Amino acid sequence: MEPILIPSLANRLVIPTDPSEDEFNYCSSGITIDSYEIISTIGSGSYGSVYLVREKSNGNVYALKKIYYVDVHDSELVKKRAIRERDAMIVCNKAKNSRAPKLHRAFIDKDECVFYYVMDYIGGGDFNSYCYKRLCEQKPFTMDEIKFYMAELVICIETFHHLGLIHRDVKPENIMINEEGHLILCDYGSSKQLFNNYSTHNGFLSVSSSAPGHGGSFGSFGSGSFGSSGGSFGSGSFGSGGFSNTPPNFTSFLRNPSSSYTSYIGTPQYMAVEVVQGTNYSKLCDYWSLGAILFELCTGQALFVESPDTTEQKIRENIGNWRGLLNTAISKNQSIPKVVETLIRDLIAPERKRIDSMGIRKHPFFEGINWEDVSNHRNTPPFKPTLNSSTDTTYFRN
Ligand SMILES: Nc1ncnc2c1ncn2[C@@H]1O[C@H](COP(=O)(O)OP(=O)(O)OP(=O)(O)O)[C@@H](O)[C@H]1O
Ligand SMILES: [Mg+2]
Repeated sequence: MEPILIPSLANRLVIPTDPSEDEFNYCSSGITIDSYEIISTIGSGSYGSVYLVREKSNGNVYALKKIYYVDVHDSELVKKRAIRERDAMIVCNKAKNSRAPKLHRAFIDKDECVFYYVMDYIGGGDFNSYCYKRLCEQKPFTMDEIKFYMAELVICIETFHHLGLIHRDVKPENIMINEEGHLILCDYGSSKQLFNNYSTHNGFLSVSSSAPGHGGSFGSFGSGSFGSSGGSFGSGSFGSGGFSNTPPNFTSFLRNPSSSYTSYIGTPQYMAVEVVQGTNYSKLCDYWSLGAILFELCTGQALFVESPDTTEQKIRENIGNWRGLLNTAISKNQSIPKVVETLIRDLIAPERKRIDSMGIRKHPFFEGINWEDVSNHRNTPPFKPTLNSSTDTTYFRN
């Protein structure tokens, strides 16, 4: 199969600290921000915003993500995250990863110091907002629904891993619902390229699209935890103005080019203990996040967040003491079925004991799931967004 080329510097282990247009731009010849009409704002994050836009030349509607890289906390880190995000999206594009938003263009505005990404607009909104809506409507998820969403997420994460990428920020806000009701994994600013499947090709690093597994078959709600800031569904991620992580440690990666990393990145309440503690970690950290989401879907409560006032520091401490807190949380939520409890315990576990995608697929919780069907979007989603037009933003209104 054709190798996937990352159209950037030859040595991508060194991320440019001041990327030029040549290093950043992707399919954007002659394109500037003036090529777009902004229809509305659909999301805002730590360093920028996401807009619904129309490309003036062809009338196509897209989501446009804008990231400022000056006058922000740790602008070097912001630039690195922006480039990693672009690279990961290009890898997903080339591999035709249907669980990723397609990147149509990326361009940099050097005068305004802004990165732009033009992506498919995913109209069903983010999973966090959907969970919050269910909470407000007092409609807890059924086990069948939880099974559907967990299976979809397993495929999203697996597909990402098979392309040689670790996401490191799997959380409900970074999961989108497409117009059919299937899940899409977004926001690759915290992602990491494993390079295991990469080789050099004409001076570019490349990943083989025949990477292992790619293309193959592949309760009750508790107290107000779904919700806005500080609550469970809806907290901010690291990378915000208060980013206190150590920047990704590329030096240690160069010394030890295996699939283990020591950089400290992610979102505290979904973050694996090995990431919080800064020890080596691997792609299995994304499955810890899956376990935290599973607990939350079943109970409506976040595992390591006691209240909206719980500080980031306290969440980290709680994750450090995860065993005791997990036992307490499970004993307080007797309604969690035993089979779910075992899956949670297999995911919220020390890395060496945590199950990987094969273990997850075989887990009794997923009994009866046809993974081939999940992989090919053949299972019927429990919720299908109703969109009246390509510019309908119903699911992005609070
Ligand atoms: N392709 C898309 N289609 C529709 N909405 C999107 C899309 N991408 C992002 N959004 C919306 O914008 C929000 C913020 O986007 P994203 O998660 O990429 O940025 P962020 O969290 O600010 O990023 P970062 O973590 O890099 O600071 C998402 O939660 C989602 O609601
Ligand atoms: Mg995000």
